[in-house]
Amino acid sequence: MRTQVCIIGGGPSGLLLSQLLHRAGIDTVVLERSTRAHVLSRIRAGVLEWGSTEVLRQAGVGARMDREGFVHSGTYIAARNRGFRIDFQERAGKSIMVYGQTEVTHDLYAARDAMGGIVIDEAADVTPHLDESAVTFVKDGRGERVDCDFIVGCDGSHGVSRTCIPADVLKTYERHYPFGWLGVLSETPPVSEELIYANHSRGFALCSMRNQHLSRYYIQVPIEDTVAAWSDAAFWDELRRRIPHDAAERLETGPAIEKSVAPLRSFVAEPMRWRNLFLVGDAAHIVPPTGAKGLNLAIGDVHYLSEALIGHYGGDDEGIDTYSQRALARVWQAIRFSWWLTTTMHRFPDQNEFDQRIQESDIAYLEHSVAARTVLAEQYVGLPF
Ligand code: APR
Ligand code: PHB
Repeated sequence: MRTQVCIIGGGPSGLLLSQLLHRAGIDTVVLERSTRAHVLSRIRAGVLEWGSTEVLRQAGVGARMDREGFVHSGTYIAARNRGFRIDFQERAGKSIMVYGQTEVTHDLYAARDAMGGIVIDEAADVTPHLDESAVTFVKDGRGERVDCDFIVGCDGSHGVSRTCIPADVLKTYERHYPFGWLGVLSETPPVSEELIYANHSRGFALCSMRNQHLSRYYIQVPIEDTVAAWSDAAFWDELRRRIPHDAAERLETGPAIEKSVAPLRSFVAEPMRWRNLFLVGDAAHIVPPTGAKGLNLAIGDVHYLSEALIGHYGGDDEGIDTYSQRALARVWQAIRFSWWLTTTMHRFPDQNEFDQRIQESDIAYLEHSVAARTVLAEQYVGLPF
């Protein structure tokens, strides 16, 4: 088959890019190695920068988000079991939207189906051939080939596309954090109307939500911990120890309907373009979930690349020629913010009491400095594209 843009990966990046390009009259084929059910089964973060919501509306997939999402104009930061609020609207003139990535992916699949977009699931052995400007794969045991103008790697952190960049061209940067996050989804009302990020000498905790009846909680755990090490009761007890006392007192607990441990790391691959291959989203960068930047960075990449490819087919290559540089400028800002919030809010194994007091001083400065709150708010709601 022949198309203009062949997209490897049918997660949020691939589906959104395909949707935006199709609406601009550009043909795409999406090759996804998993089943649609598997893609939709992934539980991921739930915070959208305001810029991300605008891209989703531009793609024609914002209606349910605007109906069912929750607009938050601030968040709570806490230390030593006491919290304070940072007002995003007051400090940065924007809000965020709480709307699960799973829902975004649902909406994107529905929009792709409605437009007759070509999304091939269970595509095996997907292999980019840059020299031939083609991608081969196996579907139902048969060898298939897509001839295209461009190949876009939206295939996540373990994808195939990044391996197409020569080792003497590709530069990677990485930081592994010495702890993980134990996450629980529970059919209970959220403990707070906005998120709570809590620093505690026992470790970090986060209170989030999906809707008024579905809460999402996380606690920092040792890197070697598994889900089996944590009963529901042990999780709730530890969460109560770390969050503000008033929240701990009103916390409603219930059975975990999803429980998982995720490692934390920062990763960047440069460049994000090599000849007719572009990298987008997790294929190019990974952030610790602390700053809720993973999906938002992916949407930012899609925004830049969709504009660039639309420009190319309109006769202007400035966008594709500067895509990597523009995307990486925004990626590194989010990488730094996510690293800073992670190092400020988490308890490191080799940390002593001096380090703990430094973190608490950082957080106290946030509470009492308009400038410090403005810096956090600007980064959290998302820098302008
Ligand atoms: N061939 C085809 N598809 C592949 C291949 C391959 N070789 N390798 C991976 N994939 C698919 C995966 O099955 C997955 O559905 O690519 C998709 C990549 O999706 P994500 O990993 O979700 O990455 P992305 O679309 O960039 O979205 C980033 O997802 O993981 C979260 O925290 C991350 O919120 C961020 C968002
Ligand atoms: C979530 O709701 O899953 C969530 C929210 C904020 C984060 C990370 C995860 O920083």
